[in-house]
Amino acid sequence: MNDWHPQRRGQSCEGSDVAPQDRIPGFPFRPSTHPLGLSAEGTALSRHGPVSPVRLPGGQDAWFVTGHRACQEVFRDEAAFRRGDADAIAPFPALQGLVLVLDGPEHRGVRRLVSDRFTPAAVEPLRPRVRRVADRLVDGIAAHGGPVDLVAALALPLPLTVIGDLMDVPEKDRDRLRYWGDGLLSPGGGGAAAQAATTAIVGYMAALLAERRADPGDDLVSLIAVRAREAGIDDLPAALLAVALIVAGWETTAGALATFVYTLLTERHPDGGTLYRFLHEHPEHVPSAVEELLRFLPNSVYAAAQPRRAACPVDLGGTAVAAGDVVIPALDHAGRDPAEFPDPERLDLTRTPNRHLAFGLGPHVCLGAALARQELQVALAALTRRLPDLELAVPPGELDWTPETMIRRPRALPVRWKGAMERCEGR
Ligand code: HEM
Repeated sequence: MNDWHPQRRGQSCEGSDVAPQDRIPGFPFRPSTHPLGLSAEGTALSRHGPVSPVRLPGGQDAWFVTGHRACQEVFRDEAAFRRGDADAIAPFPALQGLVLVLDGPEHRGVRRLVSDRFTPAAVEPLRPRVRRVADRLVDGIAAHGGPVDLVAALALPLPLTVIGDLMDVPEKDRDRLRYWGDGLLSPGGGGAAAQAATTAIVGYMAALLAERRADPGDDLVSLIAVRAREAGIDDLPAALLAVALIVAGWETTAGALATFVYTLLTERHPDGGTLYRFLHEHPEHVPSAVEELLRFLPNSVYAAAQPRRAACPVDLGGTAVAAGDVVIPALDHAGRDPAEFPDPERLDLTRTPNRHLAFGLGPHVCLGAALARQELQVALAALTRRLPDLELAVPPGELDWTPETMIRRPRALPVRWKGAMERCEGR
């Protein structure tokens, strides 16, 4: 049993067998200095065992879960590990009432409003549409003469266009939504600017729902409006679901896409070329490459998936978790657990099986997982097919990875390619 128990810590200071308080690291950890790396503190804890104590900014202790099996348990067992008020004390408070922080029947009721539209079978027919959006964006890049910022030209507009179109959000409003969404995802979540952004985006979605309820169309906002009324779900949780779709569906996928392309361009395949070149030559490996990049690359800067609170005493990976303890599943560290992934530090684009937890698991498993997978597959396929010579236009060390939100990505990803270079030289 892990004997660094938050509940026993008080006793341990006077007594004998438990590590001294100052050995409990403060959380959140400093992000790694390497763009693809995990935090040094989290990595050190993962070597100690699957579940380790950390101290939250308010002084309260929590459990940091780095083991793959233990993380699975936290996600699956919603009777023992509940979202509920965990966010109130977590380092990054989430908006109360958001589907992400609901539990039990209330959670299922809200999620059910749209869940049938996000199953793999429901999402697959969208592929031609997503391909058209990706092709248009990649054509735009190819037609451009000089270096292009891939974040602005592809990573951000692709997921926004896809989810914006599915929700039929007017184009003129999308920039505003992004601005508010970033406020919501900022690490200082509770600040005045974030509050203002929250009020604005919830108000916007509530108004859009009211409009669509009066005159429904064939879009997700109309669906939420109509079904929420039928199911007796209030306007606020319905509006918050629409907010969650935009916010959770956008920066996450954009961050993943930008970070994936950076990695493919900078990491080498054993055959000597870049991983990007490998995917150009082997497009059949795009789906497994997406899974491997999801496993390997931390989507959240701070290694913090949404925390849970234990509803009852439970043994988690050999650690006695007491009722009321906060538990933080660290998906990125779970993705490097050698007990689940042979040679976990190796980025193997053909790795199978690959049971990563990048989308969580269980009742809160990412609603948009099938859509995100499809967008990432389509974007990488379009890019590697159309621009086989893509390369970074600046040395990797010059990229700015300072987080704007809790999602990891470079602020800009300047790239160039042979055709463009020739055009530039010919001018
Ligand atoms: C690479 C992209 C993405 C990643 C890495 C990601 C990751 C996650 C994770 C880890 C969770 C589970 C959180 C938990 O259990 O506490 C989650 C939940 C969620 N995601 Fe995603 N996501 C991505 C893309 C998307 C997209 C495209 C959408 C929507 C279109 C979306 C909508 C949601 C929603 C609504 C939830 C809450 C589900 C619930 O609480 O029942 N996500 N996501």
